[in-house]
Amino acid sequence: MDRIKIIGGQRLSGTMPISGAKNAALPLLIASLLTSDRLTLKNMPNLADVALLARILRNHGVDHLIEGKRAQPNVHVGETYHLTARDIVDTTAPYDMVSKMRASFWVLAPLLARCGEAKVSLPGGCAIGTRPVDLHLQAMKALGAEIDIDAGYVVAKAPKGLRGNRIVFPKVSVGATHAALLGASLCRGETVIDNAAREPEIGDVAHCLIKMGALIEGIGTSTLRIQGRDRLEGATHTVLPDRIEAGTFAMVVAATGGDVVLEGAKRSLLDTAIDALVQTGTEVTDTPTGLRIVRNGHHIEPISVETQPFPGFPTDLQAQFMALMTRAKGTSVIRETIFENRFMHVQELARLGADIHLHGDTATIKGVRQLKGAPVMATDLRASVSLVIAGLMAEGETMINRVYHLDRGFERLEEKLSACGAQIERITG
Ligand code: EPZ
Repeated sequence: MDRIKIIGGQRLSGTMPISGAKNAALPLLIASLLTSDRLTLKNMPNLADVALLARILRNHGVDHLIEGKRAQPNVHVGETYHLTARDIVDTTAPYDMVSKMRASFWVLAPLLARCGEAKVSLPGGCAIGTRPVDLHLQAMKALGAEIDIDAGYVVAKAPKGLRGNRIVFPKVSVGATHAALLGASLCRGETVIDNAAREPEIGDVAHCLIKMGALIEGIGTSTLRIQGRDRLEGATHTVLPDRIEAGTFAMVVAATGGDVVLEGAKRSLLDTAIDALVQTGTEVTDTPTGLRIVRNGHHIEPISVETQPFPGFPTDLQAQFMALMTRAKGTSVIRETIFENRFMHVQELARLGADIHLHGDTATIKGVRQLKGAPVMATDLRASVSLVIAGLMAEGETMINRVYHLDRGFERLEEKLSACGAQIERITG
C-alpha cells in the first residue's frame, strides 16, 4: 500500500490548479443513465472514485470513452468523458460494488425513472457514520415507486414510470436531493422538492439536466421545481471547480505560511470557509482566474466553527480546519453537526502532538507551539488530508499510511503541493 512521506516546515509559494469537483462528477456520471443519447462531461477529475463509478455504470450498460490529455506538471487538464447508455442491460447494483463506492447507490432513481425497476444494495455505513438512505426512499415513494427491502437490497418498482409530486425532506440531504432531482427530471408531471440541499454540486447537476431537456427552477435555493420529461436528450457539460479541494489547499497555505494562487477556485463556492480562514489571519484575494492565499508571518488566530449544510461551514472541510487550529495561538472549538463520527482524525493528530479534547459532537483544540512528525494512519478521505496539513506544519518526518483514502478525492495531491515547495513524496508499494 502506498504511503506519503512529508518533511514539515516549508513555506509554500506558486500556483495550484483546482480540479473538477468530485461531488459533482459522481452524480453527473449517474445522470448518463437518464438518456440513450451521448452525455459529454468536461473537466472531470482524475480520481479513483470517478474511475470506479464509471466502471460500475458499465454493468448497467453505460459505455464510456475518456478523452484523456497528458497531464502536464502543475497544469490541471480535466478529462472529457463521453457516456452513452443506449440500453440499460442490468437494473441491479450489487453489494460488492455499492459497498466499495457508496455514491453508486444513487443509480436507484435514474434506473427507476428509465426502466421502472431497480434492485440496489443498501450501501451500509462507513468510517464517518451509519449513512442511512431513508430520505432517498422517501423521495422515490413520493414519486410513485413501490419500495421493499429484501436481504440487504432495495427492491423498487414503478411499472408505469415515476410521476411528479411534492417531496418535503425533514432534514437536508445532498444525496437524497440528487435522487429526487434525477428521478423527477425523467417522469410525467411537476415535482416540488422542499428543504432541498443547496450545495453547488446540486446546482451543477441541475444545470446539466436542463441542458438534457428538464425544466428546473429554484437552483441554489431550498425549493426546487422540476417539470419532468418523458425523454431526456444528450448534452455537453463542464464540471464546476472542486470547492473542497480549493478550501483544503487554502488551509494548507494558512497552515504552512506562504503565497499561493489557487487556479480555478471560486470564492462564491466557499464564502463561509473563506470567512473563517480570514479570521485566522490569512489573506484571501480574488485574482482574474482564481484565489490568492497569503499568510506571511502572522500567527494563526483561534476561530471556532460549526459545520452546517451549504452555505454553512462544510463538513468536508472540518478535519482540515481542525489541523490548522492545532497550531493556533489559543483555544478553538469545532462542532460537527452533520455526521455522527467524523472525528477519526483526532487521535491521529494527537500522535503529532496536537492537544484536542472531544465531548460528543464537539472538539476543543488548544493550540500548541509545535507539532512533531510521526507515523500516522489515514482513516477516511478528508481525515487523511488533515494529516497531510499537520505533517506539513510538523517538525521532522511524518509518514501517512493507507493513502488510498486520499486518492479517492484528491487528484495528484503530492505533485500539486511539491510544485509549490512542499517536501512531500509518495512511497509506492
Ligand atoms: C454528500 O454525502 C457528500 N458525498 C459528502 O462528501 C458530504 O460530506 C455530504 O454530502 C454532506 O455535505 C457526495 O456528494 C458523493 P447527506 P451524502 O445525505 O449525500 C443523514 C466527501 O468527503 N441522512 O447530505 O451521503 C446523514 O446520515 C463526502 O466528499 C439521513 O439521515 O450526505 C447525515 O447525517 C463525505 N438519511 C446527513 O443526513 C438519508 O437518507 C447529511 O447526509 C440521507 C442522509
